Order: sequence, then structure tokens, then C-alpha cells
Amino acid sequence: MADHAYITTPLYYVNAEPHLGSTYTTVVADALARFSRQRGIPTVLQTGTDEHGEKIAETAREAGVSPREFVDDVAAKFQATWDSCGIQYDNFIRTSDPAHIEFVQEVLTRLHANDDIYFGSYEGLYCVGCERLYTEKELQGGLCPDHLTKPTEVSEPNYFFRMAKYQDAIREHIEKHQGFIHPEGYRNETLGILREDLGDLCISRPKERLSWGIELPFDAGYVTYVWFDALLNYVSGPAALGRFDELWPATLHLIGKDILKPHAVYWPTMLLAAGYPLYDRLGVGGFWSSGGHKMSKSLGNVAKPLELRDRYGMDALRYFLLRDMAFGQDADFTEQALVTRLNADLANGLGNLVSRTLAMTKKYFEGRVQPRLPETEADAVLATAFANARTKLDAHIDDLAFHRGLGAVWEAIDVANKYVADQAPFKLAKDEAQRPRVGAILHNCIEALRVAAQLVAPFLPESAEKIREALGVEPEQFANLDLPWGDAFSDDHTVSGPINLFPRVES
Ligand code: MSP
Repeated sequence: MADHAYITTPLYYVNAEPHLGSTYTTVVADALARFSRQRGIPTVLQTGTDEHGEKIAETAREAGVSPREFVDDVAAKFQATWDSCGIQYDNFIRTSDPAHIEFVQEVLTRLHANDDIYFGSYEGLYCVGCERLYTEKELQGGLCPDHLTKPTEVSEPNYFFRMAKYQDAIREHIEKHQGFIHPEGYRNETLGILREDLGDLCISRPKERLSWGIELPFDAGYVTYVWFDALLNYVSGPAALGRFDELWPATLHLIGKDILKPHAVYWPTMLLAAGYPLYDRLGVGGFWSSGGHKMSKSLGNVAKPLELRDRYGMDALRYFLLRDMAFGQDADFTEQALVTRLNADLANGLGNLVSRTLAMTKKYFEGRVQPRLPETEADAVLATAFANARTKLDAHIDDLAFHRGLGAVWEAIDVANKYVADQAPFKLAKDEAQRPRVGAILHNCIEALRVAAQLVAPFLPESAEKIREALGVEPEQFANLDLPWGDAFSDDHTVSGPINLFPRVES
């Protein structure tokens, strides 16, 4: 197992407030970071905002404020949103932070001195929404495939980074390292890009056209191209924390598929040129769509995370995002699908197991946990279901298959609900002679709840905490994933009365 983990989200453009698309990647990153911390790995989660470039300058102009005022306002909204959503980030980086700017200039100075940057002429079709050039072939009917807008033709003298020089080295690295880009389809797509002539990367914009950016240290007439600036955050962040050597390259970059090329091609070539080892892994997610098109501010079809959180709870939103999308593939968002998940898996599944177990323990034993009895076959099936869930969960999460990992935990929760139905403690309780067996069944159910709560904690942190409290398990004990089944509760232990974790939502 790795000794450290460094997990990153993309830096979100501050031209729009957070929406479900940005929330998805952030929730995935947060769940992974919690998962990794729970397994004893010191973990750093970095997120933040991408604040320079033409798109931001344009949006600020339209809003009638200076770029500085504009980015301060929206960056604060991003941070406040992640705080309200309970995202446990360790570092929130802004590309307008002085430490980041200094870092970018230092790298540019080095690359320029090494002759990895030269002056040339820049021509092509530029999409401001994507902040990148497109080839004719990449356009759909002459339009940017993501923004459905016509790119502008640009032609101007600029500085270039000798990206092509590193093309073969990156291609060989990706060919040798199967897991470098995940899922595999995106690895193949990247190899496809790297088999064609890549060319060099234009990394500047003349100040007369765009002044909102990081000035080139070797030519005050230019600012840095926004992607060249923003990608360096992944190194400037831990460097500013004084933790670069400890964290790099134990890095997992999480991104959406629209920014594959900058992360799988530009960024590794930049790392090689700047003399840093390549990152460990790139995890590429698909798009949430709504009404048949990618959710985005420019198309106006966005769902707002805080509204959904207020209506259904953050854990229900997290569960839906992680369970209803196979990481890497696209999924369609509807509120109805969220409600269906909530009712079926959370209210009827986990919520029901919690409330009936606590209710019966309260009713028959005033909340006191009873001794276990020698294990029956049914008891063993229950214990094994949770042991298997743990093994499967770990393997699926390693593969970034969140939907499968949660599916495996819910298989065990279903086994537990079936155990209650089949063992029928509510029937046995009518017979005084069966009291010890009723107590033992409920003890097993309480164990099932304890393990279920531990397994879901990275994904549903608020609910796991409520279950932990209701069971009266100390945080230290709760943190121990390897506590053997049957050892967590002594006979004089008391659990709370029933709690309603996930009220059913009528659609
Ligand atoms: N600023 C760049 C990233 C720089 S990283 C050094 C950027 N920002 S963005 O705000 O436009 O997008 C950020 C992330 O949100 C991307 O990974 C993008 O794929 C993701 N999403 C935006 N809309 C999305 C959906 N509708 N669905 C899923 N994720 C999507 O690109």
C-alpha cells in the first residue's frame, strides 16, 4: 500500500458558480481521500480555482467589474460551496495566489533558459470556452463539440513550448504503464493523439489582447497561456505547503473527459521539461448530462448542488452521484432518478436496517446489547457477506469503480435485511424461551450496522457518523476497519433508540 496519497480535482474556472458537473469530480475526490485516510494513508486533497485567461477576462467585462473583483467573488463562492458540502480539502489553491504566480514564473524562466521555449508565429481556431486551439478535424460542423460555438481565428506572434520534443517519451511511458490513464478507453484515446504529429504548444498571449494573466518573466509584453499556468498548480500547491517531496509523484489527478488532452499530453510533457517525475495516475470521468446535453453554464441546463443538498441531504446527493454513474462513462441527471435511489437504497435499504435493529433492541432489551450465541449457518452467511463486501469494495475503489464498490456494500446490506426477515426476531420475541436467540440475532444486526457504517463512511460521512453515535461506538474503535466481527460490543453496552436516517421522499 502507498505511504502517501495526493489527490487533486481540476481547478474550476471562475466564470460560473459550482454546478453538478464540478460537484461530481469534487465529491469523487473527497470520497477517495476519506477512503485513503480511513486506511491509514496520510492523504492530501487539493482543489481550487483557475482564474486567468480570456474566458474569465471576458466574463468579468460582461459583469462590469475588474477581473480581480470578479475572481475574488466567485473563488469565495466555490470555497463556501465545498465547505457547505462538507468536502474535506487540505489545500484550496487559486492561480492568482502570489506563491503560484512566482512558481509559474520560475518554471518559465528555467524552460526558457533551457531553450525549451522559443518565439514563433501562432495561428489556428481558438475556442475561448475551452481555452484551446482546435484542429478542423476536432470540430463538429465547424463548431466546438462542447460549447457548440464557432471558434475564432487567431494569428499572432507568440512564445512556444517545445512539446513535440517530449512526445515520444510520453507515448512510451503510457505504453509501458497500463494504469497511468484510467479507464482504458481514455488511455487509448491519448495514445491515438500521441501517434499523430503533436506540434509545439503556444504558451503566451500578447498583453495588448489579454492582460489578465501571469506575465512572462522574459518578456513583459506577454502573459502566460492559461493552461500552462493552471496545470502547474498540481506542483506549486504541495511546494507551497513544503510537502512536495513527500507527496509527489504519489498523485491521482481526477478530471472530466473534456480536459483529457491538457492533462494526458501537455502536463506530462511539461513535467518532463521541468525535470519532475511524472504523476502516478490520471482518472478520467464522463459527463453528467441533462436534457440530452452536457450540463454546463453556457447551455444553461445546470443543477445546483446546494439546492439538491437542501432538498435531499448531502449524503443522498453523494450516493446518487457515485452510484448512478460508472466512472468514465456519461450519465443523465434527473431529480426523479435521485429520488428513486434515495428511496430504494437509502431509505428502504440502509435506513430500514438501522431503524428496525435499533427499534427492536430498544423494545425487547431496553437498548442493551445481548450476548451472541454459537453461530448458526444464517449468522455465518451474514458475517461472510460483510467480510466479502469489504474485499470487493477495496478492489473496486482501487479501480475507481465507485458504482460497483457501493453495489458490493449494498449486497451485504440486502443480506442483512433478509437475515432480519428470515430470522424474524419480532416473531420469536413472542416466545420467552427464544429470548436469548432474539438477543443474539439483534447483536449480529448491530454488528452488521457497525461494519456497514464503517464501509460507507467515506461515501456517506454524515450518515456513518449518525450510525456510529446511535451505536455508541467510540471514534477510535470506529476507525479500526479490522476490528473482528463480534468483538465490538460488550454485553452491558447500550445503543440508542431508532433514528430515521433517510426519510422517504414522495415523488
Ligand atoms: N479550468 C479547467 C481545468 C484546469 S485544471 C488545471 C476547467 N475548468 S471547468 O470548470 O471548465 O471544468 C472543471 C471540471 O469540471 C472538468 O473536469 C470538467 O470535465 C468538469 N465538468 C464540467 N461540467 C461537467 C459535467 N456536466 N459533468 C461532469 N463533469 C463536468 O476545465
